[in-house]
Amino acid sequence: MSGGSLADAVRAAVGAVADPELRRPLSELDMVRDISVDGGVARVAIALTIVGCPAADRIAADVTAAAASVPGVDEVALDVGVMTPAERHALTDRLRGGRSREMPFGPGSLTRVIAVTSGKGGVGKSTVTANLAAALAARGLAVGLVDADVHGFSIPGQLGLVGPDGGVPQPTRVDDLMLPPVAHGVKVISIGMFLRRADGDAAPLGAVAWRGPMLHRTVQQFLTDVYFGDLDVLLLDMPPGTGDVAISVGQLLPNAEVLVVTTPQTAASDVAVRSGLVARQTGQKVIGVVENMAAMTLPDGTTLDLFGAGGGAAVAAALTGSGDEVPLLASVPLSPTLRADADAGIPAVLAHPEDPAAKAIAQVADALARVPRGLAGRSLPFRPR
Ligand SMILES: Nc1ncnc2c1ncn2[C@@H]1O[C@H](COP(=O)(O)OP(=O)(O)OP(=O)(O)O)[C@@H](O)[C@H]1O
Ligand SMILES: [Mg+2]
Repeated sequence: MSGGSLADAVRAAVGAVADPELRRPLSELDMVRDISVDGGVARVAIALTIVGCPAADRIAADVTAAAASVPGVDEVALDVGVMTPAERHALTDRLRGGRSREMPFGPGSLTRVIAVTSGKGGVGKSTVTANLAAALAARGLAVGLVDADVHGFSIPGQLGLVGPDGGVPQPTRVDDLMLPPVAHGVKVISIGMFLRRADGDAAPLGAVAWRGPMLHRTVQQFLTDVYFGDLDVLLLDMPPGTGDVAISVGQLLPNAEVLVVTTPQTAASDVAVRSGLVARQTGQKVIGVVENMAAMTLPDGTTLDLFGAGGGAAVAAALTGSGDEVPLLASVPLSPTLRADADAGIPAVLAHPEDPAAKAIAQVADALARVPRGLAGRSLPFRPR
């Protein structure tokens, strides 16, 4: 092979290497620079997006291996540079699809947006959301997860997102675009990734005390300034109740579908109905109810129904109406395994798929995965009289 066509072959091999964070081939990201081959030595120059790019070592190793795999190349000399601000700007512009700071998940988006809400706190929204996200990713879908519970975020812990310093890892930034960390195949963004104490430790849980406008800006930023790429499903773990964040999400994403989580207890189901009705007022469609912390079967065969029974069915029945059929998608039993796996950072749907609670959540994932993206039902804004 002549030097020229050999260089072309090396360029093709290097260009096909994917950036581990942006998850696109380097050729598409304009990261490949000069390439020449002389006497079996391939000289390869690439430009990283930012100085100190955390993925730099991995990219360098992958590029070297790709170049070395081309027949006729005996040695690879790699030159790693950094993009100029102008090049980087052109790249972030392109990643945003030419739409500067627009909401990529609003009406018209092909991504299914599913907000997981509840009336009461502590009913297991985050646990259900984290497991659902992991289960959908395991089914081959491109999944993003926004931890919109800015006061009581718990998603990073449940998905085992821990940085080298033991804290929650911060997203890599390329100019004003943030690249979400990936856990169990899910791209995750959480306020927990932005809170650091002065000593560098992750801030303690629940340390945020923001008012409405700040919350609104944060949720908006999560949706516009985080590069999720092309997603099949975007899940939002909502704070409990019908407060500021629920209203912001309703305004920003009137096209979102809503999953309501409740326990079997009447006290929880009454407020759960309200959260579903408020979501519907903004035009969001309630697609189903998940009952969590339902009766569990004990080893001796008896059942323990700590929170009673019937709450899920009652919420589904109360929200059905005005032309919308709201099904009870699953009843997830109390499960020490589900709880322990969440604490350990590995969703039970992956760690213990045979667990009855994991199975029930997997059933919800199956139901959701069956609806192709872009075809999700859209409801018209509903105004109660
Ligand atoms: N089915 C279950 N069986 C046993 N424990 C559960 C179950 N579901 C959730 N839990 C546990 O209950 C606690 C609350 O769950 P989680 O944090 O998911 O609730 P939440 O609705 O997101 O709470 P918040 O309103 O504070 O955001 C956690 O410790 C979790 O591990
Ligand atoms: Mg939560």
